[in-house]
Amino acid sequence: MKTYTFREGFLWGGATAANQIEGGFGEGGKGLNIADVLPGGKERYDILLNPGFDFKVHQDKYSYPNHEAIDFYHRYKEDIALFAEMGFKVFRLSIAWTRIFPNGNEFEPNEEGLAFYDHVFDELHKHGIEPVVTISHYEMPLHLVTEYGGWRNRQVVTFFERYVNAIFNRYKNKVKYWMTFNEINSGLFMPIQGLGFAIQKEEDKYQPTFQAFHHQFVASAIAVKACHEIIPEAKIGNMILFAPVYSYDSNPENVMYACEEERLFNYFCADVQVRGEYPSYMKRYFKEHGIELDIQEGDLELIKEGTVDYIGFSYYMSRTEKKEKTGGESSEGNIIGGVKNPFLKASDWGWEIDPEGLRISLNKLYDRYQVPLFVVENGLGAYDKVEEDGSIQDDYRIDYLREHIKAMGEAIEDGAEVMGYTSWGCIDLVSASSGEFSKRYGMIYVDKQDDGSGTLERKKKKSFFWYKDVIASNGERL
Ligand code: BG6
Repeated sequence: MKTYTFREGFLWGGATAANQIEGGFGEGGKGLNIADVLPGGKERYDILLNPGFDFKVHQDKYSYPNHEAIDFYHRYKEDIALFAEMGFKVFRLSIAWTRIFPNGNEFEPNEEGLAFYDHVFDELHKHGIEPVVTISHYEMPLHLVTEYGGWRNRQVVTFFERYVNAIFNRYKNKVKYWMTFNEINSGLFMPIQGLGFAIQKEEDKYQPTFQAFHHQFVASAIAVKACHEIIPEAKIGNMILFAPVYSYDSNPENVMYACEEERLFNYFCADVQVRGEYPSYMKRYFKEHGIELDIQEGDLELIKEGTVDYIGFSYYMSRTEKKEKTGGESSEGNIIGGVKNPFLKASDWGWEIDPEGLRISLNKLYDRYQVPLFVVENGLGAYDKVEEDGSIQDDYRIDYLREHIKAMGEAIEDGAEVMGYTSWGCIDLVSASSGEFSKRYGMIYVDKQDDGSGTLERKKKKSFFWYKDVIASNGERL
């Protein structure tokens, strides 16, 4: 069997987000954030994709799985010990903005929140694991959503600046790898989680969405500059959801449509954050959609100066596009849309499985930007079964990860510079799009069920031992 070579010091590990693992609802002075008001189950998916969400808790109607999540807040030592046993070099987590600034607009950070992450980072270092920190992962303070309108409002940039300065100063000796906004481009189709507001009517989405993006670009550039100044040896990246877009066939109209969708979805945010300027193709898009950005003096210079050091991206699926879709063709499970690809199988949630797409993505990104790439999310959401003997035989997950790691190895041979790989949800957690526990990604099983029952006990799945060996052999034994 062919073996692959990953550079020495390749950053193998796992990835999570605060709102999906921590729990600790209201503890340590934490304020409410967007994830706290998103219900579990199918309802969440409908809310995320359809206009008109009210950002309120309805205890009588829904459950709120993120409130307890998997209780990492109290169990982080046990979990980190398991990550260390797998040999993790890095662990990707996010800081919950509302642990540091409970409403988002305070002047002084909350000491208890800061101390919590001190303990987590210290614990990681005790085991020789470097933290990779996402500054904002779908967990904007709710107060900034309800009182300010989320990222639509320019003032939020100032609050964000206060937040990043507080965390860079506090953790300057503890965190070397940072990322600004998780899957920043997902705001194009799910503004609630990424941009902090709900579209009320479909036709009204363009102006607020792109104004909010502009504010995030400014905020991202501020963060990059501050990071470079406060922690000169650190690396700070952006984070995009990358799903290569294929044309359904060789009809030039479909090819052009796929190209346009790829530019808008995959490249627009990265072009601004990596190259430091708005790409020329967006001029036409802005004009055709009646978008007039309020760009303040100095913004464009700031964006130019605050370009990222690397690109972090998530990869789960590709997308196949056709200009005119007929009913029945669309790939409904594929969260980012498109039509069904006849060459691909899909997960139980309809996400099309395409390892070659990861090789394609790495090549496309490296060809375009020539900056280091970091695969910070990839994995299979699947139903797991605990056998009578207590084991979890998740061979389907091993197959998925193996094929994707091979594809990454091929891309490295193609010439792409890849820093590392952190598989998503290395420990079972709450799904971001459906709020379920049963959509499991982990190599570590957590006894927590969709109805809220479960002991929260952790168990090692078969993939735990497999991944441990992958890391121990630096990717040679797959
Ligand atoms: C990415 C997000 O979109 O995909 C994660 O950054 C998320 O937060 C992951 O959990 C998998 O998606 P889901 O909906 O299956 O949890």
